Amino acid sequence: MFEAYRQLLKVLSLCLDINGPLLSPALYLFECVRVHYEERTEAFDARFGTDTTSPFVERREPTGAYFYVPSKASVIRRVLATIPLEPNEFVFVDMGSGKGRALLVASEFPYAKIVGIELSDHLHQIAQANVKRFAPPSQKCADFELRCMNAADYVFSDAPLVLFLFDPFGREVLERVVANLEASLRATPRAAYVVYVCPHFEEVLRHSPALTKLKEGGPRWQPWNQYVLYAASPRGPESAEEHAAIAI
Ligand SMILES: C[S@@+](CC[C@H](N)C(=O)[O-])C[C@H]1O[C@@H](n2cnc3c(N)ncnc32)[C@H](O)[C@@H]1O
Repeated sequence: MFEAYRQLLKVLSLCLDINGPLLSPALYLFECVRVHYEERTEAFDARFGTDTTSPFVERREPTGAYFYVPSKASVIRRVLATIPLEPNEFVFVDMGSGKGRALLVASEFPYAKIVGIELSDHLHQIAQANVKRFAPPSQKCADFELRCMNAADYVFSDAPLVLFLFDPFGREVLERVVANLEASLRATPRAAYVVYVCPHFEEVLRHSPALTKLKEGGPRWQPWNQYVLYAASPRGPESAEEHAAIAI
């Protein structure tokens, strides 16, 4: 029953063309209501004095339209808390970082560095201001690197990493990002995790020989808050069994 409902939502959401004359305003309206409701319950911006809530759409050639909505802070915290980090060794990379909500939440974990990659200059500048404003006592990493660029062109550093994706782009860009990650892991085998929230194109991760699925989670009736967690390991597929310890 839930699976049929999930598939229906998936088909409907894939049909939603944000360039379309009818569905675009409907989707935008839905997202506005949703994120403002979530802000009322979580009060992320209200607590931290940041500006991460309002959706934003930008249309630009040749990349087309792109759409910002923040991920839900409690969902990010829940999934990041399950990843066994070596403190101050991992880099957190959010591809499609928007106004920076996920970067700010990640900074409450002991990352060595936090990287945000965003195509829109407008959103990139808002994220820069948010990063300056955000300094709660719970913050464990304040080393941010924000870059305004296409995620498909990003070259991964050699550090162990957590790659975070909140429904940022379509299949083509995701395939290029995963191909770049695979090449980087081949050149420098190391621990790596991929968190994909609202995973429309999960098959791209599933088909990657470098990645193993560890778990999925999030409320079934909220596809935008569902997530999957994949891992790569320097010691090959057998260590995926060790990782299975964190799987549900
Ligand atoms: C759904 S928002 C995610 C925001 C943020 N990651 C979070 O969790 O709050 C997706 C973001 O991806 C950005 N984006 C879309 N295509 C991109 C690309 N090719 N390279 C970098 N950013 C991109 C959009 O501008 C938008 O800000």
